[in-house]
Amino acid sequence: MDLQKLLNSMTVDEKLSQMTQLITGIITDKNDGPITGPMRKFGLTKDTTSRVGTILGGSGANHSKDLQNFHLSEDPNKIPLLFMTDVIHGYRTLYPVPLGIGASFDDDLAEQCCAMAAKEACVSGIHVTFAPMVDLVRDARWGRCMETTGEDPYLNSRMSAAMVRGYQGSIDSPDRLGKYKIAACVKHFAAYGACEGGRDYDAVEMGDHTLRQYYLPAYKAAVDEGVELLMTSFNTVNGIPSSANKYLVRDILRGEWGFDGVVISDFAAFYEMISHGICENEKECAKKALDATNDIEMMSTCFVKNGKQLLEEGEITEKQLDEAVMRILKLKEKLGLFDNPYRYADSEEEKEICLCKEHRDLARIAAEKSAVLLKNDNVLPFNKNVKKIAIIGPVADHGMIGGWFCCGKHTEAISVIDGIRNYAKDAEIVFARGCGAHPAEMAENVSEMIAQAKQVAKDADAVIMCLGEEIDMSGEAHTRAKIAVSDSQTALIKEVCSVNKNVAVVYYCGRPIALEKVIDVAPATVIFWHPGTEGGNALANLLFGEVNFQAKLPMTFPREGQCPYYYNRLNTGRPNGSQGYCLNYSDSPFPPVFPFGYGISYTTFSLSEPVLSSAEMTENGEITISLSVKNTGDRSGIETVQLYVQDVTASVARPIKELRGYSKVELNPGEEKSITFRITIDDLKFNTLSGKYEAEKGLFRVYVGNSSAINEYKEFRLV
Ligand code: GLC
Repeated sequence: MDLQKLLNSMTVDEKLSQMTQLITGIITDKNDGPITGPMRKFGLTKDTTSRVGTILGGSGANHSKDLQNFHLSEDPNKIPLLFMTDVIHGYRTLYPVPLGIGASFDDDLAEQCCAMAAKEACVSGIHVTFAPMVDLVRDARWGRCMETTGEDPYLNSRMSAAMVRGYQGSIDSPDRLGKYKIAACVKHFAAYGACEGGRDYDAVEMGDHTLRQYYLPAYKAAVDEGVELLMTSFNTVNGIPSSANKYLVRDILRGEWGFDGVVISDFAAFYEMISHGICENEKECAKKALDATNDIEMMSTCFVKNGKQLLEEGEITEKQLDEAVMRILKLKEKLGLFDNPYRYADSEEEKEICLCKEHRDLARIAAEKSAVLLKNDNVLPFNKNVKKIAIIGPVADHGMIGGWFCCGKHTEAISVIDGIRNYAKDAEIVFARGCGAHPAEMAENVSEMIAQAKQVAKDADAVIMCLGEEIDMSGEAHTRAKIAVSDSQTALIKEVCSVNKNVAVVYYCGRPIALEKVIDVAPATVIFWHPGTEGGNALANLLFGEVNFQAKLPMTFPREGQCPYYYNRLNTGRPNGSQGYCLNYSDSPFPPVFPFGYGISYTTFSLSEPVLSSAEMTENGEITISLSVKNTGDRSGIETVQLYVQDVTASVARPIKELRGYSKVELNPGEEKSITFRITIDDLKFNTLSGKYEAEKGLFRVYVGNSSAINEYKEFRLV
């Protein structure tokens, strides 16, 4: 396809429509009579809707083909539609929310899961996913913690690259963007996770060093992995909404990083610039968005309604329009849409592939590898021959598929009751709801519910309590001011544990929850996130010891009131405990309940003292850190050994430690293996006071352990 010739043949209105994304319902309004409600609201004409460049939604092979046919019958330029949707943690077969995938510390798992999601989405007619979401988050109150892989720039960067590879194929692979692959859209650029107070959509204020050092790396990792699209975020960054932020998008993303892919807004974010107070009307929104080099306007119509006038008034140039449209046309060409507008949509394959056994197995394995064991006082694994199992809690009797469930269904998911029944076929299983999940539910007859749960639990051989958050208690626009386990769930745990000692409490959550009130009550505690389609089967395998826990926390689990809280903090001039007047809370302990990188296993491991290859490193050299890991327990397990580095003195204060490597070591009982980490100059570079990204000579400390809460270190100097 001669894209330049096609571009040259397009009118200004057709170009502006190509830069617009609307939801399916608006496009397919077949009512040729009066403009329907949504279209009128947007001030749209049939001409506009018949020429849009992309649809938000439209999944389902046959549905997608019908939409494409409808569009091509109306679009004078016969430019195929792009179908985009949120395939965040699966398309139809759902795996754990990304915060759980982050907990796996398993890049290959992340890539495999995204490849599975891409395969299901591709045959179902989807061309682009609005993922990976890589916003660094340090505040557990933010509802969208569930969509991220957590608080660490290094972990998020590795996961970001792995997910892009999963969706698109790796940069040099022959199947990149081919069959079973879709284009990825990294989001939300930028620093959306730093919204003040954890309040979704609230302002983001930070210095350039913090922005570049901690919040931008994971987006750049996606760009370096060849991500095809990027979505700008709702929030302001230092007073400018990202969609209008020329510094962020034009200067850093396109200028410094060389990104020439498609930039799409978030939902109606251009229009929201009026509410932000930086535009008086939609015409100004269109100009500011275009000047910041956005290409597609999602679900608002500033471009199509004002672009022509802006052009006539000389406020924008046709060159700007052409650059945006050409990026869109190139993406469509890369995806093969000009050769085949239906791409790989195939209803037969859709039926065969979606929810197939192979995909369900991977979803189960992902849930098993994402679950974090926080405490186990000799209760787990349960005896396989238990006769009576009590299952208690408001999230045990339905599938906990997670907040962005795309085309997944609760009814296709395995609940805890299903999973335990599948596993312990001969056991008697009794259930009691015990209390609600939503705060509003808690007021009702909770004392009777708790009494009934006690009754059910008291003579059980094993008690599984499924508590925490319902899937709609995290996610977009679900910030919570109080992240502690609720009073009624706390009361339920205390009452049940008062009548039975064989209790495991499993928390479903899309964020860190404050466990200080309950962690000492129950003998065993598991964080299971929102585990997806196969959650119940995965939990059964974990609790009865068919598989061992191996995950680690990708975010600090703080106490109520400590947010924001993160491990890679600055030391400050008065670190906690250094003196009377120092960093602390007068009404709460300073440490979190559990630190970043923490998670235990059914076995135990010992790490030998790390040995550095040298006490000095030159900028072209490297240092290796070697140690041995031994399984000192009585069953096989996987330890995630973590490497942290501290730049002790630098031109800008640096964190007390930063993750710079992790390695998963599988060991049988008694087995010992040596592992080696490598540090090169790239691991020491940072955004210095002079604004350069480089390493500075001086003292560095190396920490190696099984969580971020390690104090022993070895030193070397960069000379
Ligand atoms: C939402 C989200 C964004 C999502 C988009 C399309 O508001 O912020 O993450 O991709 O709209 O659904």
